[in-house]
Amino acid sequence: MNLDLLEKLTQTFGPSGYEDAIRDIIHAEVAPLVDEVRIDPLGSLVAYRRGTGGGQKIALAAHMDEIGVMATYVEEQGYVRFTSIGGVRPLNCVGNRVCFANGVVGVVSVERRDDANSLPALQHLYIDVGATGREDCPVAVGDPGQFIGPLVRQGKRLVSKTMDDRVGCYVLIEVLRQLTATAVETPHDVYAIFSTQEEIGLMGARTSAFRVDPDMAISIDVTGTGDTPKALPMAVELGKGPAIKVKDGGMIAHPLVRDRLVAAAKEAGLPYQMEILLGGSTDAAAMQLVRAGVPSGCVSIPCRFVHSPSEMVDEADVENAITLLVTALRA
Ligand code: CO
Ligand code: ZN
Repeated sequence: MNLDLLEKLTQTFGPSGYEDAIRDIIHAEVAPLVDEVRIDPLGSLVAYRRGTGGGQKIALAAHMDEIGVMATYVEEQGYVRFTSIGGVRPLNCVGNRVCFANGVVGVVSVERRDDANSLPALQHLYIDVGATGREDCPVAVGDPGQFIGPLVRQGKRLVSKTMDDRVGCYVLIEVLRQLTATAVETPHDVYAIFSTQEEIGLMGARTSAFRVDPDMAISIDVTGTGDTPKALPMAVELGKGPAIKVKDGGMIAHPLVRDRLVAAAKEAGLPYQMEILLGGSTDAAAMQLVRAGVPSGCVSIPCRFVHSPSEMVDEADVENAITLLVTALRA
C-alpha cells in the first residue's frame, strides 16, 4: 500500500467546486499511465487508456471533491459564520478545525445555549480564525474550507479526513497503474473519471459520462457499515472485503454490472460483500442516466464515520478493491 500517495490525496484541498489542487496531484499521477488526459468544462479529469480492441467503453469514476464549509458572514468580533458544502453535520463539526483555501486555520465552535446538551443547527456554529475584529479577519465571504484530519495507520485500519472519496481516487489510480505496469491485456477502452462536485449533486460525473458515452459505468466510492453500535441493519462490515453495490438511496445497480463484479471477485478468490445502502448514493446514479441509459454499478470501500474528519477504512479492503477491478477489466 502506497501510504504516501494516500496521504497526499486525502490531505489535499478540494471542497466541491474547488478541485484544482487535488486535480493537479491526480493529473501528475495518471499522466504516465494512460494514452490521453483531458479536463472537462466542469473540472473533472478524464484519463483514457486504450484497450487492445474488440472490447467495451468502460467508465470508472471516483470523485475528487470533498465536503467542506463556506464562509457566509463575518461578525463584528471577527467570528466567521458558514454554510456547508455537501453533507456536513453539526455533530461532526464542533471542536474540529477547518483550513481555508488561503491556509488560514480556524476552530469550529458553537454559541452558548441554555440547553448545552441539545444538538445545535449549523447556523449556531461559528469559526474562530484568530481575528480580533471584522477588519483583520483573514477569511472573506465566499471562501471555501476543508476539515483537518491527518492520515493515521492504526493496526489494519487507516483513518483520515476525506477517505470519501480520495480512497476511491487512490483505487482508480492504482488500477491504471496495474493495468499499465503489468501490461495486463484488456480489450476494453478505460475512461477513468476523477469527478467534481459529487457531494453537492453528482455534477462532474454526469457531464463527463455524457461526453464519454460509455457501454458500462462503475463508480468507486465509500459506503457505510453495519458494524458499529446501533448501526442501521446493513450486511457490510469493515475488513470483510470490497462491497459490490446492489442498491442504494439513488439507484439499483444494473444486474449485468453487479454480476460481472461478483464473477471477478470469485475468479480472483477475494472476499467481497453485497451492499445495500439505505441512504445516500454515488456517481453511478448519475452516470446511469446519461443519454439512453448506461448499465452502472459500484465497487464500494466500507468506511466508518463517513462525512466526519476521521473516516476509517481497512487496508485489505482497499487492496482487494484494486484487484477486483483489474480482474473485472481483464474479462
Ligand atoms: Co460523501
Ligand atoms: Zn463519496
